[in-house]
Amino acid sequence: MLNRRKFFALTAPLALTGNRLMAAAQNAPLGAPHPAPPVRGAANLPIVVSTWDFGQAANAEAWKILNAGGWSLDAVEAGVKVPEADPNNTTVGLGGFPDRDGRVTLDACIMEGNGNCGSVGALEHVVHAISVARRVMEKTPHVMLVGDGATQFALEQGFPKENLLTPTSEKAWKEWLKTSHYQPVINIENQSYHKQPPMPGGPGNHDTIGMVAIDAKGRVSGACTTSGMAFKLHGRVGDSPIIGAGLFVDDEVGAATSTGVGEEVIRICGSHLVVELMRQGRSPQQACEEAVKRIVQKGPERAKTLQVGFLAINNQGDIGAYALQKGFTYSVRTGSVDQVYPSPYYYQ
Ligand code: GLY
Repeated sequence: MLNRRKFFALTAPLALTGNRLMAAAQNAPLGAPHPAPPVRGAANLPIVVSTWDFGQAANAEAWKILNAGGWSLDAVEAGVKVPEADPNNTTVGLGGFPDRDGRVTLDACIMEGNGNCGSVGALEHVVHAISVARRVMEKTPHVMLVGDGATQFALEQGFPKENLLTPTSEKAWKEWLKTSHYQPVINIENQSYHKQPPMPGGPGNHDTIGMVAIDAKGRVSGACTTSGMAFKLHGRVGDSPIIGAGLFVDDEVGAATSTGVGEEVIRICGSHLVVELMRQGRSPQQACEEAVKRIVQKGPERAKTLQVGFLAINNQGDIGAYALQKGFTYSVRTGSVDQVYPSPYYYQ
């Protein structure tokens, strides 16, 4: 087990400042000991960070808006639409693995630093769940729409109705049905229909995209979108559309988002916890570590079998990331950095 003392002992010699720290972080290959997340100052805004390596392509899209002086809310929406539209990403949007009954249901939320937010849970037939969530925020007096109501709203708003079940995802679901006994398997993505070995937290364990960004004017925004746990019970909703669980944003503090088994994140109101810990003076890194530790405290045996990762930035652009298991990565884009980093993790 990683204890924090050991982690800090390992990383203390690397507690560099400024450019040296940035250089150390940039040079760390995936899987290598992680020196520390890069530290950014407000002078270096804008910044966008996303969960997982596929966040890099999403960041590139968000960066077009941030670099042109645009609003972080527009940037995060545009960014996460990239994996939503990718049929080869089996955990987000089009091509996401279906539920137990073969239905692809999407969860997403979006939030501004002033508390405005919108969300959809168990949305069907619409690729860009994040844009529907934004429409809920902007066009209704509500925060969250779910199930048939969310789908009805999206279609009324003019979003095209599409089949989200790709041949690849349908094949995986049919394979799963042969052995599943209709028991939804927690963290099935770890066990894996990906090409990589089915290791907890392994490279095949790509999951939710959570993205948080600060624009040149210092406005913080976040977006989170997923097809959720593969082969889940129909109607299951994870952490990703739950404001405070999968995402929380506050201009006064910063933002946090999560990936992994949503049930564990919901139990601790994970992203809200991270932001509130930062408000109390913790660094983004310390706050992410504390949130992961809470999950371990609630169920150490269960936590060993699961993956959860948190990613946070404070409103100065400092970054933190921490996961239960090896394998969580995150992507950072600023004026001088376009890089994927391995996250430090609890269980060694
Ligand atoms: N974190 C995604 C989910 O549990 O649905």
